[in-house]
Amino acid sequence: MSRQSRKLDHLKYTLLLEDGPNEPGFDDLNLVHNCLPNVDLDSIDLTTSVAGLRLKHPIIVNAMTGGALDVLDIHSLLAEFAKKTNSAMAVGSQFAAIENPELIPTYSIVRKIYPDGIIFANIGAYATPDQAARAVEMIEANAIQIHFNAAQEIMMTEGDRNFKGYLENLQRIVDKVNVPVIAKEVGFGIAREQVAQLINAGVAAIDIGGSGGTNFLAIEAARINKNLSQDELRWGIPTVVSAIETKSVLAPGVSMIVSGGVRRPLDIIKSLVLGGSAVGIAGMFLKMLQRNGLNNAILEFNQMLDTIKKYMLILGINTIDKSSSVPLVIGGQTRQWMQIRNCDITKYAVKKQDLV
Ligand SMILES: Cc1cc2nc3c(=O)[nH]c(=O)nc-3n(C[C@H](O)[C@H](O)[C@H](O)COP(=O)(O)O)c2cc1C
Repeated sequence: MSRQSRKLDHLKYTLLLEDGPNEPGFDDLNLVHNCLPNVDLDSIDLTTSVAGLRLKHPIIVNAMTGGALDVLDIHSLLAEFAKKTNSAMAVGSQFAAIENPELIPTYSIVRKIYPDGIIFANIGAYATPDQAARAVEMIEANAIQIHFNAAQEIMMTEGDRNFKGYLENLQRIVDKVNVPVIAKEVGFGIAREQVAQLINAGVAAIDIGGSGGTNFLAIEAARINKNLSQDELRWGIPTVVSAIETKSVLAPGVSMIVSGGVRRPLDIIKSLVLGGSAVGIAGMFLKMLQRNGLNNAILEFNQMLDTIKKYMLILGINTIDKSSSVPLVIGGQTRQWMQIRNCDITKYAVKKQDLV
């Protein structure tokens, strides 16, 4: 199966399949209401920083497509959506265009539509440093996502089987490219042991890509008409668990992007309180655009931003930076996981308040 038709299949099955079956874990998180918010709704500032880049708000349109001539329209629509919502945006894996330059316009269209946007390049961790540099150049990217997707690859009949040397390769990519590097999972989460290794390799941000949203095992299985067991479909670290694991070892100056099943404004505010500087959303935006059209998707997006501001108000904060001062009580399976992993979650619940 060619890389181009695989890209089309990914879009097709994302639209056909639901999230999960894992839950991302946001229901295990309880934000503590503030009855005395010293905040004016109109003064709430949604700007944030990721990997040293300033974003107008904390929602990133995450990596999805490019790489087939037939996806030009949908990639243009995603770029239009990102532009009209002032969102940062990532393109999908650019390896297809590295192999076949005829496909370059299916990625560079994003920069053409959104000339002043914050745009992330994207390539797999197997790419050579030169190929990563070409991916950056291809779209004049502001940063590059290096994706890790071993669970997805081993499910694909035509996928990679040898994952040796990725960390050392990542380090070489960091040394070569002239933009910040974001290490990214695609929906199976990152544990703290690997976060520490990725940080040592010099990444500027970690996009945790946890389990509970778009499920690439389900998508790959649907492509080859294969039935997977619930055990297989539930592989991966739920998003909230991965975010807490990541935060527990995050170095100063390295940003966390929370993604994987982030859907509601409440998920977004909880992700920020967990220590995320931003969230990434992929599958849901594709579905919103496909089902409701560009204008309605923009309206829905703006409603999400308004709702986030309202949550910030009743939590007593007026900037994204202050999210870390909001107390959060963690229960359910997330709490059990963290206790067994000897990860202190009381620090989320008991905080020195830093009210405005
Ligand atoms: C159709 C589709 C294609 C994707 N292609 C890529 C890709 O090329 N590179 C990548 O890093 N992630 C890719 N992803 C993964 C997303 O960027 C994201 O990590 C994942 O879908 C989890 O987020 P979600 O639950 O909000 O969809 C893709 C996702 C979708 C839905």
